[in-house]
Amino acid sequence: MGKNKLQKFSDMEEFPHVFQYTYSALRELSQPFEYKGKWSSFFGNDRPIVLELGCGRGEYTVALARMYPDKNFVGVDIKGSRMWAGAKESFLAEMKNVAFIRTNIEIISEFFAKDEVSEIWLTFPDPQMKKVRKRLTSTRFMELYQQFVRPEGVIHLKTDSNFMFRYTEEMVKANGYEVLFKNDDLYHSDFSDDKILSIKTFYEQQWLDRGLTIKYIKFVMNPKSTFAEPDVDIEYDSYRSYNRSKRSGKDSSKKNTDMDDNLKNVQQLFKARLAGLNWNIQPNGLYDPIGYVLSLGGKRIRPVTALLACQLFSDDLEKAMNQALALEVFHNFTLLHDDIMDKADLRRGNPTVHKKWNDNTAILSGDAMLIKAYQLLAKCEPSVLKPILDVFSETSVGVCEGQQYDMEFESRENVSLPEYMEMIRLKTAVLLAGSLKIGAICGGASEKDAQLLYEFGIGIGLAFQVKDDILDVYGDTSKFGKAIGGDICCNKKTYLLITALEKADPETKAALLSWMEKAQFDKDEKIAAVTGIYNALRVRENAETDMQTYYNQAVDSLRQVSVEEDRKSDLYGLAEKLLYRED
Ligand code: IPE
Ligand code: IPE
Ligand code: MG
Ligand code: MG
Ligand code: MG
Repeated sequence: MGKNKLQKFSDMEEFPHVFQYTYSALRELSQPFEYKGKWSSFFGNDRPIVLELGCGRGEYTVALARMYPDKNFVGVDIKGSRMWAGAKESFLAEMKNVAFIRTNIEIISEFFAKDEVSEIWLTFPDPQMKKVRKRLTSTRFMELYQQFVRPEGVIHLKTDSNFMFRYTEEMVKANGYEVLFKNDDLYHSDFSDDKILSIKTFYEQQWLDRGLTIKYIKFVMNPKSTFAEPDVDIEYDSYRSYNRSKRSGKDSSKKNTDMDDNLKNVQQLFKARLAGLNWNIQPNGLYDPIGYVLSLGGKRIRPVTALLACQLFSDDLEKAMNQALALEVFHNFTLLHDDIMDKADLRRGNPTVHKKWNDNTAILSGDAMLIKAYQLLAKCEPSVLKPILDVFSETSVGVCEGQQYDMEFESRENVSLPEYMEMIRLKTAVLLAGSLKIGAICGGASEKDAQLLYEFGIGIGLAFQVKDDILDVYGDTSKFGKAIGGDICCNKKTYLLITALEKADPETKAALLSWMEKAQFDKDEKIAAVTGIYNALRVRENAETDMQTYYNQAVDSLRQVSVEEDRKSDLYGLAEKLLYRED
């Protein structure tokens, strides 16, 4: 078992809002589950309780909880390592209206007393086409839910499965439940309860991208003494439905493994090629820091996306390999200088170059890296030399412009969100976009496709930087590799700060500004105070909603690239992973 998994296990044990009971563990208890009938004492209020059954990573549970602070949400699933993501997120954000139970849904009535629950969400459950008893909208489950759902309680089902949807419609009809809302193509209809639409998960977006329709039904589960299991034949889905545990698209599972393998192969190949660059040369004082920073790892997003972009058009990765190396060397150069500018001591969990050596070393080694990047870039087919040099030069000067705005914004009080977006477009998004475009050009893409990939990179890059701002406050240093609160300490105009200044009432705004004006302060105190204000104003919620919008825009561009959708799976997958990243 990986270390990561062990860490998650121990986290799960310690989270105060997570309860883990298997069937046997529950039976070993001499009395009922401690909060059965007493959830109001756990949450500290009498607000309605909403369950999400089969919550997976808990993204709906957490998003719904953010959206409806006047209700309490409990996510239920048996898979702990997945649930950990939502548990951790809600814990770090100090959300008081979220809990998780890790158990089998079949024994859920052990956790709630009569009438204790107001609503149940079923989000993309396995349709269980062959096993009606395991289907979460079967009468067996209705009977179970009735034990703890109050009269007039509401059930929501969201699914991509036609089978699941039709079955549920029939079950609702056969039992005379009142339908409050029903739509078999949620995102292509006039239905615009944007609260629900805005929590379209990243998975959901993927299914939509594959041309599937999302269906939604909401009905009232009035108490009944007998239940009628519908007796109808419903056509089976022609594809395997995508529940939370099965991320990928229409492909068979074997093909999915192949695809995952492809991404891993590309990553490994790149890693090996990067390690093959020789920095053990004279003068060591110039080159050692380069070898050092490159040896510290990192996600290698830019080179890997460049290689994947190349792969859309050509099976020969070597066509873009030197360019991928150039992009990573260039990116690391920007980090050396950025860490001086941001006074950052930690990078990838290790001392930054200017800390380990000194500022002058970080400046000069950085300069050498920029030049080395150009040399690597120019190792290409003559026919693509000019186009990729043009993209690269435009990109790198864009990064400088973005970094300049970033610095200027530190001492400006009023920075608008559009100004901020333009700044991060330049400092972060253009390099990712440029990487994709360069990879595409090397692979032989048309100008139009290369440009669409550039647009995809801009969307992903914007989302990526907003996520970086979030992690700078809410991340975990051991994974993020940078000191938490660095942006707060130097008054960086991040998405969170700008939104907080916009949302705050005059008193809170004054408090925030006074922290920003202090020349001398205790770092931890400032970080805690500003984070407290962010939490109270719920600015993370705004950041995440916008992040998703940029991701969606990005995916729109990728969809238009004129190669088969199947070939794009790794890029879709990688883009999605970036938004869930913790490092
Ligand atoms: C850090 O980039 C700089 C930003 C644009 C946020 P990464 O988050 O890609 O850093 P590494 O290369 O994975 O360490
Ligand atoms: C990164 O912005 C931009 C560049 C390195 C060009 P940040 O300053 O937010 O990056 P981190 O957080 O230090 O990695
Ligand atoms: Mg910076
Ligand atoms: Mg920085
Ligand atoms: Mg940052």
